[in-house]
Amino acid sequence: MNILVTGGAGFIGGHLAESFAEAGHDVVVLDNFEPYYDLGIKRHNVEVGRAAAESGGGNYRLVEGSTTDADLVADLVGETSIVYHQASQAGVRTSVDEPQKVNQYNVEGMLNVLDAARDADIKRVVNASSSSVYGKPRYLPYDEDHLTTPISPYGASKLAAEQYARVYNEVYGLPTVSLRYFTVYGPRMRPNMAITNFVSRCLHGESPVVYGSGEQTRDFTYIGDIVDANSRLLSDDSADGEVMNIGSTDNIEIITLAEKVRDAIDPSLEISFDSRHPSDAEHTHADISKARELIGYEPTLDIREGVSEFIDWYRENYEWYDPLVRES
Ligand SMILES: NC(=O)c1ccc[n+]([C@@H]2O[C@H](COP(=O)([O-])OP(=O)(O)OC[C@H]3O[C@@H](n4cnc5c(N)ncnc54)[C@H](O)[C@@H]3O)[C@@H](O)[C@H]2O)c1
Repeated sequence: MNILVTGGAGFIGGHLAESFAEAGHDVVVLDNFEPYYDLGIKRHNVEVGRAAAESGGGNYRLVEGSTTDADLVADLVGETSIVYHQASQAGVRTSVDEPQKVNQYNVEGMLNVLDAARDADIKRVVNASSSSVYGKPRYLPYDEDHLTTPISPYGASKLAAEQYARVYNEVYGLPTVSLRYFTVYGPRMRPNMAITNFVSRCLHGESPVVYGSGEQTRDFTYIGDIVDANSRLLSDDSADGEVMNIGSTDNIEIITLAEKVRDAIDPSLEISFDSRHPSDAEHTHADISKARELIGYEPTLDIREGVSEFIDWYRENYEWYDPLVRES
């Protein structure tokens, strides 16, 4: 199958492109190499995708460009059967500093993909949405009927994008699915997230820094489970027009996670604290019943086991991946 992965040089898109190429599909990656974090990591993701195509018999093509370029998007979507739309400006705090840019990338970019997909009459657009659409929890775990009141420009942009996806399904009959990912972790993840900061600092003999009291909780989802949920949508049309939570069903206090990382690497380190950003979610926890029922999604690795696997991976890949080593 011809598959377009926007944002395919990034963390999640990189894993999707790798998995599809490995399975023998023809993959095109569109990515603008946004310098939000070290571009060497994105170049590495591209190499992994190319190698997967070689070993799996698929094709892999990289196109450097932006989803805000409507003509380019139309050309690429016109050649594809299915779009996995992962390109967006991630990061809640960046969105507070640059809401206009986030709207351009996350909402206008999405509209370009949807317009092109509608005109090309393709099989499906699978949209990467986020637990950030929920904002303040009225109850936990969140099901998809929970109120959506985002507390950051990022969350607002992800909500707008998934509403457009739903509306294009309603109005134009375009098959779309939005997956609300809950904090994703695993090999090659974005280096500017809490878990990576904890591991990096501890490996450098520095205290992990927790923002706020650490009592905030997160549902951490293993990247392999995210790939599995997306892969089911290559052939399964039972979720067209829907939004679904893709989480782990478990959650953990951030302070507990910091302690687990510290204890695994250097128990002599103290935990440090800094002030919490008001746009950071207080709690996330996914009810995945809908995804389980519609597409048979079943998470396989919870964070309590996954964190030690991640630390092992980090140690093995320290030289090319760790931000402080890369900077030196
Ligand atoms: N990682 C998570 O925990 C998480 C949680 C919820 C939702 N998401 C969503 O999943 C998707 C992928 O996230 P990620 O963690 O892999 O982030 P990432 O930053 O690693 O990947 C995004 C990629 O998109 C590219 N990109 C950004 N704007 C673009 C544009 N206008 N045109 C083309 N390419 C562009 C970036 O260069 C990057 O390589 C995003 O839509 C994000 O909002 C991620």
